[in-house]
Amino acid sequence: MNNRSIDVEPIAGALGAEINGVDLRGPIADNTLAEINEAFHEHLVVFFRNQDLSPKQHADFASHFAELVPHPFVQSIDGFPGIIEIVKERDEKTNWGGINLHSDLTFFEEPPIGAALYAREVPPHGGDTLFVNMYLAYETLSEGMKALLADLRGVHISAAPSSYSANFKGMHEKRNDAGSAAHPMVITHPRTGRRALYTNAYTKHLENMTVEESRPILDYLASHAARPEFSCRFHWTPGTLAMWDNRVTMHYAIEDDFAAESGGGYRRVMHRATFEGERPH
Ligand code: SIN
Repeated sequence: MNNRSIDVEPIAGALGAEINGVDLRGPIADNTLAEINEAFHEHLVVFFRNQDLSPKQHADFASHFAELVPHPFVQSIDGFPGIIEIVKERDEKTNWGGINLHSDLTFFEEPPIGAALYAREVPPHGGDTLFVNMYLAYETLSEGMKALLADLRGVHISAAPSSYSANFKGMHEKRNDAGSAAHPMVITHPRTGRRALYTNAYTKHLENMTVEESRPILDYLASHAARPEFSCRFHWTPGTLAMWDNRVTMHYAIEDDFAAESGGGYRRVMHRATFEGERPH
């Protein structure tokens, strides 16, 4: 018999689950938080629909799982240093986070362990987010490739800091230095003990190797990880909150607002709470 206080419904074979039966405005009982945490580690990204959250309630909920940290290159919303507003206007086609499959801020020594993204204004169709399970991406590699990667580190480099706001009418720049950090290509999750592939759009080359030497390996791994069977695709409705484990997933805000270029697209507004960082091992 299932004695859980929440209902957890997987949305794909690889990762992702919707959680029903909890009002994130709180207070949330300790056993319910423990169940959410368990579902988070099992499904890697969890979704809560039909939530009505103020920025404070959003921050309070996210803070149950980690300290919140400011984004290095984007201004936080007033009064909430751990939350940024992500805006795509109707005539803008690219979503922030639409730079291809990535994990957040891995060009820092201690990248965020996760994020809680809350949908304030989303299109009736399109504007979905794709998530990828990096445990599966690792586990399905050949033994030869696993052995090759075991001693390699990837060098992660940020885009120009201004680019995180310059191309988006509704985003506001925060001045900060660009980031660069080397991390193992294979990491072990500190809680589950499972190994995951650790590379994403920010991984520009392998340590002690040139870009030209690295690209064939990195490109192969990127296309392998992007196999549809390792992913889930989530369609947002207003008031949905998604919480992902940034250590073992990648995500991509699908850039499919084709009507935007003629001005007939949809506005999309998300609030992202970013979790504190930890050095990947
Ligand atoms: C992000 O990359 O953090 C944003 C994803 C999204 O807006 O769907």
